[in-house]
Amino acid sequence: MANRNGWGRGRSVPTGSPQVPPDSFVEQANVADEDVYATFDEEWPACWERAADLLSWDRPYDAVLEDDDPPFYRWFTGGRLNAAYNCVDRHLEAGRKTHAAIRWEGKHGERETYTYRDLYVAVNEFAAALRDLGVEEDDVVTIYLPMIPELPIAMLACARIGAPHSVVFAGLSSDALATRMDAADSEYLVTCDGYYRRGDAFNQKGKVDNARLALEHEVETVVVDRLGDELPHVLGEREWDYHDLREEFAGATVDPVSRDAEDMLFLMYTSGTTGEPKGVVHTTGGYLAHVAWTSHAVLDVEPEDTYWCSADIGWITGHSYIVYGPLALGTTTVMYEGTPDYPDRDRLWEIVDRNAVDVFYTAPTAVRAFMKWGEEYPERHDLSSLRLLGTVGEPISPRPWNWYREHVGDGECPVVDTWWQTETGAILISTLPGVDEMKPGAAGPGLPGIDVQVIDERGEAVDPGQIGYLTVGRPWPGMARTLYGGDDQYREEYWKRFSDPDAGEWRYFSGDAAAIDEDGYVTVLGRVDDVINVSGRRLSTMEIESAITDVEGVAEAAVVGRSSGTTATEIYAYVSTEGGFGPGDDAVRETIVDNVETAIGPIATPDTVVFTPELPKTRSGKIMRRLLEDIANGDDLGDTSALRNPEIVGEIQAAIGED
Ligand code: WTA
Repeated sequence: MANRNGWGRGRSVPTGSPQVPPDSFVEQANVADEDVYATFDEEWPACWERAADLLSWDRPYDAVLEDDDPPFYRWFTGGRLNAAYNCVDRHLEAGRKTHAAIRWEGKHGERETYTYRDLYVAVNEFAAALRDLGVEEDDVVTIYLPMIPELPIAMLACARIGAPHSVVFAGLSSDALATRMDAADSEYLVTCDGYYRRGDAFNQKGKVDNARLALEHEVETVVVDRLGDELPHVLGEREWDYHDLREEFAGATVDPVSRDAEDMLFLMYTSGTTGEPKGVVHTTGGYLAHVAWTSHAVLDVEPEDTYWCSADIGWITGHSYIVYGPLALGTTTVMYEGTPDYPDRDRLWEIVDRNAVDVFYTAPTAVRAFMKWGEEYPERHDLSSLRLLGTVGEPISPRPWNWYREHVGDGECPVVDTWWQTETGAILISTLPGVDEMKPGAAGPGLPGIDVQVIDERGEAVDPGQIGYLTVGRPWPGMARTLYGGDDQYREEYWKRFSDPDAGEWRYFSGDAAAIDEDGYVTVLGRVDDVINVSGRRLSTMEIESAITDVEGVAEAAVVGRSSGTTATEIYAYVSTEGGFGPGDDAVRETIVDNVETAIGPIATPDTVVFTPELPKTRSGKIMRRLLEDIANGDDLGDTSALRNPEIVGEIQAAIGED
């Protein structure tokens, strides 16, 4: 089998030589019991009580798992709890009021620390304000904020009153915001005036105004004043200033609403195989238990730690491992605004040094950038506080893995390469750093209780080293329960392909290709569907294509990823026009780029637009994407005789050559 990124066509699966975690780490690890895999298997599904035990429940659950209606599994049924209570209040009760909950590092060197007590006050006051604006239990509140403390505060305030939040990444466009608010029928929005991007004040509120114009329903909007005088703004109708609201409700407290374990905690839109983003539904009990458990077992987080995940809260990684997991455990979570190279390329190491960070979790694309910039940047700082390093979001090959361990982890820190998805809610594949040896280039085995299998088209397990589809055979607590758009779509997207309902067999399909070795270690190779992963961000090729074909004069478009394996994936757009435009027409190119930025955001901007009189098609008229991908990657094209228009290949290659 070959996938979109060219894996399986003559490329080998790279893993480096195994490395063991140091004794000093193992001795203090939260999970160091080698029998943990066997125990989870023997006790399954009751093994998951260990995860639930990390939480405080208002009412104990009756059953760990109810699986009578697959693939709609229900976890910790009958149990009741509140996520904000678990992430905030209970730590106050445990005498940790003055312990830092959030340490925030702003773009321009601003710093703020919220103790658990401060967080409690902020969350309560904002929860009271939201209620006053009319937010009721189960109303979806959209949050469109950059990496400022008000983002986790707003999320927790929603959780407190049982209103699911839907966080939209601040860099997405106004169209993307409007689509998501419309799909979720969301009548409440928390946003800001603007924020700093690359040193400049950027107007976020302008995007919000456009989105609101596009919506048919009214939206109550809370605006955080991030930029003050730098970007003056006037509040209009149905708009409230965040700080005024906090003042108005100063000292207010709101009882946390006791939620059923299966009640929705949040919605997170992500790219799927269709042009429409999918609203992934996560629940209160199973999700929170699973993120707390993996923060404890994989990221080895302890309450006394300072823990830092450098992701953006606008994506699932930040939800699970900046906000809910670490705060449920009562640790100090660091969040930073900005980029790793501003004001200089040692920004992250300066933050690690100053905050004495114990555990650091980032993306492979960042590690590759660090490697490129050179070891002098980490060397400028004292990184000896670090105990564990992690990566997430993309495959990491052995060279950057080793560099990370050597130059950031001083050759000592274990590195966990964690595989998971928006839909899985929490980490499913990784080594347990206190138990397993690490193999650079392989994420690791399925975690205890997680039944990971790499299978072929017929559903048979592939031999070690062979490439197949990455699937999960048993349910897990943090799994998405459905898609906001409907149960049918959920069943179709993830379960249909490899399940056999008549035989009572259900298998989740991740959309990824992978190989597995003799020890059960999985190397994830990339997507097999119409999703491309650009610097750890998921984009749908169809979504980009539809933004391109909206441009007047464009006839057809095909978008593929170009990935060399060592640098970030680039977006290639092949475009055929309706005549009138010459290949390489700059005005059309610009309109295409603008349209993509308007429809999705700058993260989806094509790196290369290739004009061609026609796209290569099969005799039945299907666009040959595989071939376009090979052309972008400069790979051997093999036999093109099955094409209806084989002559086009040379023209496309020539067009790329001219660029
Ligand atoms: C990819 C991010 C290789 C994969 C948490 C998956 C990875 C998609 C890894 C999910 C990893 C994530 N190794 N690939 N350790 N982690 N991926 O939903 O293709 O934004 O399907 O969730 O990222 O992206 P998402």
